[in-house]
Amino acid sequence: METYGCQMNFSDSEIVASILFDKGYFSTEEITQADIIFINTCSIRDNAEQRVKKRLQQFRSYKKRNPALIIGLLGCMADRIKTVLLEEEQLLDVISGPDSYRDLPRLLEQVESGQPGVNTLLSMEETYADITPVRLGSNGISAFISIMRGCENYCSYCVVPSTRGRERSRETGSIIHEAQDLFSRGYREITLLGQNVNSYRWTEEEEEVNFAKLLIRIARIDSLLRIRFATSHPKDISDELLEAIAAHPNICKSIHLPVQSGSSRVLELMNRKYSREQYMERVDAIRRIIPGCAISTDIITGFCNEAEEDHRETLSLMEWIGFDYAFMFNYSERPQTLAAETLDDNIPQEVKERRLKEVIDLQQKLSYQRNSEDLHQVFEVLVEGESKRSGDQFMGRNSQNKVVVFPKKRSKPGDYVRVKIHQCTSATLLGKIID
Ligand code: 5AD
Ligand code: SF4
Repeated sequence: METYGCQMNFSDSEIVASILFDKGYFSTEEITQADIIFINTCSIRDNAEQRVKKRLQQFRSYKKRNPALIIGLLGCMADRIKTVLLEEEQLLDVISGPDSYRDLPRLLEQVESGQPGVNTLLSMEETYADITPVRLGSNGISAFISIMRGCENYCSYCVVPSTRGRERSRETGSIIHEAQDLFSRGYREITLLGQNVNSYRWTEEEEEVNFAKLLIRIARIDSLLRIRFATSHPKDISDELLEAIAAHPNICKSIHLPVQSGSSRVLELMNRKYSREQYMERVDAIRRIIPGCAISTDIITGFCNEAEEDHRETLSLMEWIGFDYAFMFNYSERPQTLAAETLDDNIPQEVKERRLKEVIDLQQKLSYQRNSEDLHQVFEVLVEGESKRSGDQFMGRNSQNKVVVFPKKRSKPGDYVRVKIHQCTSATLLGKIID
């Protein structure tokens, strides 16, 4: 199985693996040995889809060599391009949307009887609550737990509401159970996933569990279990949630809060439901309630009608906040979105790219500045494994989600160690364990 796109998709691949392993299938690292290849796809930007299409063409040569090979496409692209892929390309045997993974064993049987297996129906209820994901490519220390699916915020640029369907939360008990199970198997860090985790809601015996309450319940499992979460929507990030984070040392002090643009005018066109000032107010609240909290973000450049002045507002907001980290993208028009239907994608590609470069260059400078502030400080770091650069060094993260690299010195993956920082780049902190 190959996965493209976000953490959510990665988490979905683990659900798919679990469903198939239960039916006796097993995975292989060697693609030429596979009887079935699944590709889990992402539609969020056009280049994600282009990468998938290229990869599918490579699969064609495997199929030539082995005509019995089954090729399946999963995830967000499934519904959008099923007709093209089935009829014109004649490459795929199975197509399954994000809510029909339970149906995969039946779809595979259908292929054996000579018919393509297709199910791209979206569901109002499916959360795969009872499925214990198989941890793929895991370091045995950190894992993802999906707590909700879908999204109905309808940001005007975004394809997710149409590919992943209605927002639904997963039953609280099954989330707690999964977290407890991971902890008992040695995992020390879980990341709760959803498109907008702040709107998590589950009613249980007349009591409503919101996201703050869910976090607190998980934090109480064990003080050695760290909790992270993504993604938060600025319009829903409440003081109650910030206070819950502040009050529990094992809830990580790092918030991913996508801003998308620093211009209120563009934010309105994006249907984000907050203004520049409201976003700044939430950042002030984070700084006040959780001192030392890292803030990261997503930014889109060159959205419809973005004027030079709007772009400069994005740059000035970035400077004002001093984001620790950012994911930055050119606007990519997606079919079946509000923007595609009502706005003109009117910023020339070279302008989009120049603005993106300015945003990336500024963020590089800000990340370096933020990391420099950590010099000579001591952080508690959860050891994840060997550093990519050297077998003598471990890598881990501090509560602020910054990567820290340090000499091993009597520690092992899963340990918490105290590391004093003596050097940094814009991406990494370098330090030594102190006793
Ligand atoms: N074009 C560019 N970036 C997009 N994102 C979502 N949709 C688009 C699009 N059409 C970005 C947003 C979001 C992140 C996951 O992807 O910044 O927060
Ligand atoms: Fe897309 Fe907006 Fe939902 Fe995020 S909150 S998934 S950007 S519609």
